[in-house]
Amino acid sequence: MDRLPVVELHLHIEGTLEPGLIFVLAERNGVELPYADLAELERQYEFGDLQSFLDLYYANMAVLRTERDFTDLARAYLARAAAAGVRHAEIMFDPQAHVSRGVPLETCVNGLASALGESEEEFGVSTVLIAAFLRDEPAEDALEVLEQLLAMNAPITGIGLDSAEVGHPPRDFVALYDRAREAGLECVAHAGEEGPPEYIREALDLLQVARIDHGIRCLEDEELVERLVAEQVPLTVCPLSNVRLRAVDTLARHPLPRMLGRGLNVSVNSDDPAYFGGYIDENFRQLTELFGFTDEQLAALAVNSVRSAFITEERRRGLFAEIDEWRRGRS
Ligand code: ADE
Ligand code: ZN
Repeated sequence: MDRLPVVELHLHIEGTLEPGLIFVLAERNGVELPYADLAELERQYEFGDLQSFLDLYYANMAVLRTERDFTDLARAYLARAAAAGVRHAEIMFDPQAHVSRGVPLETCVNGLASALGESEEEFGVSTVLIAAFLRDEPAEDALEVLEQLLAMNAPITGIGLDSAEVGHPPRDFVALYDRAREAGLECVAHAGEEGPPEYIREALDLLQVARIDHGIRCLEDEELVERLVAEQVPLTVCPLSNVRLRAVDTLARHPLPRMLGRGLNVSVNSDDPAYFGGYIDENFRQLTELFGFTDEQLAALAVNSVRSAFITEERRRGLFAEIDEWRRGRS
């Protein structure tokens, strides 16, 4: 086995919508795109910050209309992920971004669930679905959509919090997370991507999340780093995303090696791979090329993601064994 077996913990399914599929779905659904061709669309993929990406990300979702569209989107990701060595994926989706466009919740949930339900057999990738809520929309709207997901018995394992971070602190979403926990759901939240270290603290203390998505700005706060190390809080880091959204200047200056050096529980993830220049394998490839990660370090990153996944202990043991086997095969 040559490819490092990996687990993806931070992935937005809408962020896997490739330009080519945007044109296919637009044609199929009679959606008029504001771009003459693929090349013109691809010229839009130049981002100055998180918001400039989000504007394109939400606009492109206009082509997702039917259950089949969501199934095709997820199947395309799962096929690509399997080729990248992904053995388990925890997949976020943004229900509010679809409901607000008039797409029924059932359409999006059933479409995704159909692809995910066949994933182990078809692609050898186990999956978990996480409903992510938009922090730049009213918290009451998020709670209403969560209630609808619960009422329809949607196959979700957890909830997340995403979209524009600065000015939308975790403290605004306490009721949402209380309700999710009461319903037995796992909790994660984006924090410390563009927002300050204080948002990471709030996500931990007020939302009681099990993982922080991104979390790179924790390094600005020594006391917080010490706590994250002591508690081994998983930080789902997305290197290529951070470069493309200018959270860091270049990959060479990415804090991942420093974070590993401090003993933080960091994993490597792809976030929105169709937008940021590569899937999880490309994140690992570029990191390895730049930082010269050894097989031991790569295996340690994979082990961190397995430790932090929402899976049974039996599945966890199986994935640890696969990583061990990969390491033995390399030496
Ligand atoms: N939604 C999709 N990708 C995101 C990111 N990187 N940060 C916040 N919200 C997102
Ligand atoms: Zn994200």
